[in-house]
Amino acid sequence: MLVNNFNIKIDYLRISVTDRCNLRCIYCMPPEGIINKPHEELLTLEEIVRLVSIFTSLGISKIRLTGGEPLVRRGIVNLVESLASVEGIEEVFLTTNGTLLSFYAEGLKKAGLRRINISLDTLKEDKFKKITRSNSFHRVLEGIDKAKEVGFYPLKLNVVVMKGINEDEIIDFVDFALSQGITLRFIEFMKLNSLWRQDYYMPLGEVRRICAARFSLRMIGKTGPGPAIYYELEKGRVLGFIKTSQDNCKRCNRLRITSTGELKVCLYEAQDFCLRGLLRNGLIDEEIKEIIKSRIEIKEYTSYKNWNSPGVYMSSLGG
Ligand code: 5AD
Ligand code: SF4
Repeated sequence: MLVNNFNIKIDYLRISVTDRCNLRCIYCMPPEGIINKPHEELLTLEEIVRLVSIFTSLGISKIRLTGGEPLVRRGIVNLVESLASVEGIEEVFLTTNGTLLSFYAEGLKKAGLRRINISLDTLKEDKFKKITRSNSFHRVLEGIDKAKEVGFYPLKLNVVVMKGINEDEIIDFVDFALSQGITLRFIEFMKLNSLWRQDYYMPLGEVRRICAARFSLRMIGKTGPGPAIYYELEKGRVLGFIKTSQDNCKRCNRLRITSTGELKVCLYEAQDFCLRGLLRNGLIDEEIKEIIKSRIEIKEYTSYKNWNSPGVYMSSLGG
């Protein structure tokens, strides 16, 4: 079993299956997109499954597939199916922009996917175009409907709040979540790279105050090791807030693998540790396992305050 420096069990692995995306959200990608990693550098689906089975022997039992947009990766449904049947894997989750969900939701459900988080930053079609530089707003709504229809519950919706962009929709989002039976989480815009805009930054406290002025919020706190703090809303539903301008290291139970197979023991670590090389250099599982273990034992937490990697994009980190 792996534990972090604060003795918390590490049982959760986030895997970015592609750095590609069919949207170009203003805070995530430049208009022209980013230079995609060469295909041969991406982990193959077989390599991902092999890595996951090695990680289960170290105590990982939950997997989240991210991107980029994970549903643009060919073979994604098969990957979910393979991962869900790896011994020791209890749950497989997915974070998606929802645009392709109406096609995939049913297959993903059958493949054994347990939960879906959808990222959507506006409920207005014209604004969706401005934020994502794409016309697929209605496809996201269809995706949400389909996911609910095939039984994904609770569906979570992630909203990055930006001043002057979607701050006027905070209450609309809460109403939407209540009417749809969705768990809503507001995310504070995170300073990651050159796409950062100070004028868009809205402290999460402000978002909470706007909600509290309209709804009675009863603090629940953290419901798991993730960074979200939950409040109970009227009608017995919960609302989450994810503050990115604070460290969550003490409770951090997660590891990350980038689309090219770099292990990240901390979101903010500058040094990458290449698992792809280990897989492709003929090492056996037991050897790889020991190397991963020794890497994690020297896990160092790097505060968000020290983050200084202007060339790194969320689409390769996987959120
Ligand atoms: N700040 C906050 N959230 C971000 N995401 C991507 N870039 C940022 C950023 N700079 C979010 C996406 C998605 C999740 C995977 O990460 O909106 O919900
Ligand atoms: Fe794509 Fe998500 Fe980035 Fe938007 S935030 S461009 S949907 S990866």
